[in-house]
Amino acid sequence: MKVEKIPVAPGNFNLKNYDEAYANFDWADVEKEFTWYETGKLNMAYEAIDRHLLTERKDKTALLYSDAVREESYSFAQLSELSNKFGNVLRNLGIAKGDRVFVFMPRTPELYVSVLGTLKVGAIVGPLFEAFMEAAVRDRLENSEAVAIVTTPALLSRVPVKDLPALKHVILVGAKGELEEGQVSFEAAMADATSDFEIEWVDREDGMILHYTSGSTGKPKGVLHVHNAMIQHLQTGKWIVDLQENDVYWCTADPGWVTGTSYGIFSPWLNGATMVVRGGRFTPEDWYKTIEKYKVTVWYSAPTAFRMLMGAGDEVIKQFDLSSLRHVLSVGEPLNPEVVYWGLRAFNHRIHDNWWMTETGGQLISNFRCMEIKPGSMGKPFPGIYAAIIDDQGNELPPNRMGNLAIRTGWPAMMRQIWSNPAKYQEYFNIPGWYVSGDSAYKDEEGYFWFQGRIDDVINTSGERVGPFEVESKLVEHPAVAEAGVIGKPDPVRGEIIKAFISLRDGFEPSEELMEDIRKFVKEGLAAHAAPREIEFRDKLPKTRSGKIMRRVLKAWELGLPTGDLSTMED
Ligand code: WTA
Repeated sequence: MKVEKIPVAPGNFNLKNYDEAYANFDWADVEKEFTWYETGKLNMAYEAIDRHLLTERKDKTALLYSDAVREESYSFAQLSELSNKFGNVLRNLGIAKGDRVFVFMPRTPELYVSVLGTLKVGAIVGPLFEAFMEAAVRDRLENSEAVAIVTTPALLSRVPVKDLPALKHVILVGAKGELEEGQVSFEAAMADATSDFEIEWVDREDGMILHYTSGSTGKPKGVLHVHNAMIQHLQTGKWIVDLQENDVYWCTADPGWVTGTSYGIFSPWLNGATMVVRGGRFTPEDWYKTIEKYKVTVWYSAPTAFRMLMGAGDEVIKQFDLSSLRHVLSVGEPLNPEVVYWGLRAFNHRIHDNWWMTETGGQLISNFRCMEIKPGSMGKPFPGIYAAIIDDQGNELPPNRMGNLAIRTGWPAMMRQIWSNPAKYQEYFNIPGWYVSGDSAYKDEEGYFWFQGRIDDVINTSGERVGPFEVESKLVEHPAVAEAGVIGKPDPVRGEIIKAFISLRDGFEPSEELMEDIRKFVKEGLAAHAAPREIEFRDKLPKTRSGKIMRRVLKAWELGLPTGDLSTMED
């Protein structure tokens, strides 16, 4: 297959020659850049923030924040002091190394201070996306036995405090009026706390952050990352994100998802970058205005966002000065070639796609600035990473053959546990020597990887991973729903949308109102992004004889494809 390549754009890159770097790379050389290389004692928050206080970066702006009402900026020194204080707040509550502290907040400076302070006492951060509703919050706090949560009065109603015996402290940002037992005012506690703080040194393999993510079956699983991940966050920040001293970097992802922490907190600050955080909702004008206002130079976003911007038209772009941009990146879902061409047309920039997952903790495959881009390809493995396409037995397949996208085990940011579920963890490593991603892909003869799809039923809607089982479980709690099967339906903007096939209980009839009611039920019970955009009522759903809904058949119905082998289907 002949594919057009987009040549390397002129510029000054951190990584000059990919092949050479790939051939000579050793993670051990990256480790030497940290002081803990000799001491063995480390802490992500120290490396990301406090360490810079010994350098010229001390008063450099670390965070540029704005939303509809606030506009603030924080230097590394200020973040260091605030997170020290928050560390003391937690310590005064008796929170210590290994405890799980959840952060359930809109994207505000307090969120970042809370994450850093939690790390400073050696506790494990559990970030929760602000759109989660009660069931989603409950599952995660219950599974991890969290001892504390930092949240706001508005989100508190979704935290079932009384049902969570392990949860002892609720730290409220912006609390007004009387507090209940177990509640702490963030502002009052911060005002009382000193900024004298002795950081908790941890070991490389100690838990740092717990990101819950979805699979095709079962409840969301807690993917545990350890402090050692910083090695990869530092180096990918240099070579993929291409962070340089004077950059103003904007990662549009929310810290509730892995991109919003690995590349929205750790990687940029380890590299001493100035980072923009924008609270509030997406509009094309607002996004372009953010780039113009802060003179953003490096912009990391996602295909759905680019497609929405593309849909808003090129006229909008002309109203803004986007000339500060020098590097654009994308992650989370397949980046369509036409979006790459739009990027060239609209901003005169290549959009650099890269691939990784919650479980991998950091970027693994990428289009590097110093390399030609084949639109539609995710690029090539990061130095130190061996990626391959393998069959189900673990044999590597020749070029252009589709198979399992797998990585040789043992990179620095690889997850270390699925929280309290070793069996689930093991499933990723069933083929000895490999981490099997669950994505299918092929590699071309030049070593570029091409994403083909998910092997399981996991849905990727607007770059957010949704497990069909979670949505189905919520749906069947609705009084009208007898059975439900949920699939991802291809969508030109969102990649996929969630579609539910539903059979109703006796006494209920399909109607527009019922559809709306069911949608609202999921939205309010689980999360807005998990609610099915489309619902189709059916008298019966295809099931195996053991009673499992056959999503594969639903998908075939939806796409008008042959349903394949139906031998296991009930009559
Ligand atoms: C998908 C997000 C195509 C993939 C960092 C993966 C992608 C899942 C790409 C992980 C890409 C991620 N092209 N698909 N460049 N990047 N994906 O855990 O299916 O939210 O397995 O991590 O998103 O999603 P997660």
